[in-house]
Amino acid sequence: MNHSQQLLITGGAGFIGSNLAIALQKRGYHNLTIVDNFSSGAPDLIRGLKNINLIREDITNSGFFDKLKKERFEVIFHQAANTDTTYSNDKAMIFNNVESFRNVLNFAIVSGAKLIYASSAAVYGNGPIPMKEHQKLLPLNSYASSKCMIDKLAKDAIRERNISIIGLRYFNVYGPKEAHKGKSSSMIWQLSRTIKEKKSPRIFKYGLQARDFIYVKDVAEANIRAMESKERGIFNIGTGTTVTFNRIIEILNEIFGTSFQPDYFDNPYNFYQNHTQADTNLASKILKWKSRFSIEEGIKDYFNSIKKETL
Ligand SMILES: NC(=O)c1ccc[n+]([C@@H]2O[C@H](COP(=O)([O-])OP(=O)(O)OC[C@H]3O[C@@H](n4cnc5c(N)ncnc54)[C@H](O)[C@@H]3O)[C@@H](O)[C@H]2O)c1
Repeated sequence: MNHSQQLLITGGAGFIGSNLAIALQKRGYHNLTIVDNFSSGAPDLIRGLKNINLIREDITNSGFFDKLKKERFEVIFHQAANTDTTYSNDKAMIFNNVESFRNVLNFAIVSGAKLIYASSAAVYGNGPIPMKEHQKLLPLNSYASSKCMIDKLAKDAIRERNISIIGLRYFNVYGPKEAHKGKSSSMIWQLSRTIKEKKSPRIFKYGLQARDFIYVKDVAEANIRAMESKERGIFNIGTGTTVTFNRIIEILNEIFGTSFQPDYFDNPYNFYQNHTQADTNLASKILKWKSRFSIEEGIKDYFNSIKKETL
């Protein structure tokens, strides 16, 4: 492990990027550059971190990477994306996410950097459970389609070029520093906020939708593991287990000392993932990574931060 490596995090002022930056600094990696256009994240999220080189830039702009070429990055963690699965402008979604990735990929190829990027369980849509990396991809919206396109570009580059790429298909991530995401934040954050406001948590009928919720500290750890690994490829990053929205409300009631009953309403979306669950065999065998937090432990750890976040 070479702690003097120069590391670049795109989208590093966002939810997962900021948690990753914190985890890297805790592990002794201090040469961090963050690039973000603050379309969703904000400098506040990384305020406590020292010696960060923070650049405000839109990475769909390829000219930016020409300027960056004189820097020597060993590893790039690409987290930047529009993450709103209900975003109505498909063209803008695809442009933002795919062009960003194309620019980062070209930069990694030219500079010889290792590329670790965020893919998503959204690529599996309502496909068979548990979701395996090689199963058919069934994107339900433009966000998911953008991630399918990115994975295809990555696979082609792994096959055709001598470049180290690891794609991490995050499942449903929750944890500190996600409040800015509003309706794109995790159901755990959204339901906890309603309970804190002393209102009944509203969920789609009848709360049986199930998610493989993964704590953000586990996701940060998966990125660090990927940085240290010599492998290439695309890996699921989930716990391998699921929990229903009804159960999340029970856990939150236990934590907040409340007894709210769910307020069920009709799901207005016809492009909704009803169930996600990762097959984690590849990640554990090849990346040697496994999640550490159960849902109860993750929410408990998160709760200490929720108390501090603005509601
Ligand atoms: N949160 C989840 O549950 C989840 C699940 C699967 C995959 N992911 C992926 O993880 C990554 C991080 O997501 P997040 O949840 O932290 O969301 P986020 O919105 O908090 O972070 C994304 C960051 O990227 C920045 N960004 C967006 N477009 C940009 C551009 N063109 N140029 C520069 N910066 C740009 C935003 O300002 C934001 O800070 C994304 O790629 C997302 O698709 C997240």
